[in-house]
Amino acid sequence: MTNQLDPHVFVLFGATGDLAKRKLFPGLYKLAAAGRMPDEYAIIGSGRHSPGTDDEFRDHIGEVLRDAVDDADDAVLRDLLSRLTFQTSDADDGTDLAGAVKQAREKLGSETKTLIYLSLPPKAMQSMIGMLGREHLADDARVVVEKPFGTDLESSRELDAALKDVVDESQVYRIDHFLGKEAVQNILAIRFANGLIEPAWNRSHLESVQIDVPEELTIEGRGSFYESTGCFRDMISTHLCQVLGFVAMEAPVHLDEASVRNEKSKVFAAMRPLDPERVVFGQYEGYRDEEGVDDDSKVETYVALEAFVDTERWQGVPFYLRTGKALAATRRTVTLTFRTPPAGRFGEQAPNRLVLELTDDPEFGVHLRTKRPGPDLEMMPLDFHVAIADEDTEDTPLEAYERLLLDVMRGDQTLFTRADEVDRLWEVCQPVLDAPPNPLPYERGSWGPTEALELPGGTGWWLPDGS
Ligand code: BG6
Repeated sequence: MTNQLDPHVFVLFGATGDLAKRKLFPGLYKLAAAGRMPDEYAIIGSGRHSPGTDDEFRDHIGEVLRDAVDDADDAVLRDLLSRLTFQTSDADDGTDLAGAVKQAREKLGSETKTLIYLSLPPKAMQSMIGMLGREHLADDARVVVEKPFGTDLESSRELDAALKDVVDESQVYRIDHFLGKEAVQNILAIRFANGLIEPAWNRSHLESVQIDVPEELTIEGRGSFYESTGCFRDMISTHLCQVLGFVAMEAPVHLDEASVRNEKSKVFAAMRPLDPERVVFGQYEGYRDEEGVDDDSKVETYVALEAFVDTERWQGVPFYLRTGKALAATRRTVTLTFRTPPAGRFGEQAPNRLVLELTDDPEFGVHLRTKRPGPDLEMMPLDFHVAIADEDTEDTPLEAYERLLLDVMRGDQTLFTRADEVDRLWEVCQPVLDAPPNPLPYERGSWGPTEALELPGGTGWWLPDGS
């Protein structure tokens, strides 16, 4: 397969880090295997410490890819690795890197685009952006910035100002990989393409919305990252709020980048700043024994909270967000709970629910009530669950990073967050950062602290399989 993409030089900061290993190199490999990479490209990994010679670096990434990708194709792998080099750089000195990028661009021709991927912790981001500016590395580049964007309102504004000194907003791709998930984009399709659903998606029909992302994994060797970030910044101010933006937005006039991002941004503008009294933090037992974690750490590994979007559509409808590590199950589930028709005729009935599973194999479910077949007028649940990929076996969904890397190459910012969204989300989250709840201990493999389980009151937390 050939494609229309210009030649590219990828500059990957954090090339020996965890994200590069788990997502970025596998994403690039899968794009290459599917014929979706440009015909001509080079990848320059960069970081403070050299991983050895270029050949040693290639061997290392080759192993990483064989581990990460089932049945990696040798020819695709060899071709990708042959385009890979490493150049050390740091915030004070990027001269050699600038030389390497210049050389690679010259080799690939005048149409070459530079894509700079900053997979760096928040504290390293700003100074590295300064270096990009001094070395003119970003002058006409697309710059991908990994989340979290800063650590609070003030630092995110500083980071944004540093970025704007060097590049224009049109060059910035703030990545939140949840937006690259097939199923998250499907929220818009399910909502706005279905006459059955669209008219009911509001306060008149819905009692509550739940965005639930429990994870079984622990912080798994990411102790020092978690100590400086915590679950609230890692997951809530980013992924879960972005999903909320898709669930709550008004219909965009068009599906282009400006319209979609404008509508999402309006949701955040209307979000009520979080009330710390309605936020529960938890920390799993044993977290303090993880490598890189303080013995008396107060960092949260679990958050459950209530949020409100004060628009005509959503006034008074609580959004319950929950996520945490070392929990009983791994899910990415959005549940809309409907108001029940006036009670009486059929006795008390569990409410109808519409469920979106935001997994790599997205599922869509509807939970209704119906009459039990037979002589009496008894009620019973009627649940439909459809695995969407089973309905179309032609195409396989792209993994989130794969999709988003492709979008950067195509210059499409729709699924990337804009500066004003990030700024507003920090404003919404700042009351919790100013008065963080004390993290309550919870057992590994549980659903978190009891206080969190009680947060939604009578509605309770709910997952389709009854967990
Ligand atoms: C990352 C977080 O951004 O997203 C992790 O840093 C989290 O803590 C992960 O586990 C979840 O992503 P996914 O793609 O597995 O849903």
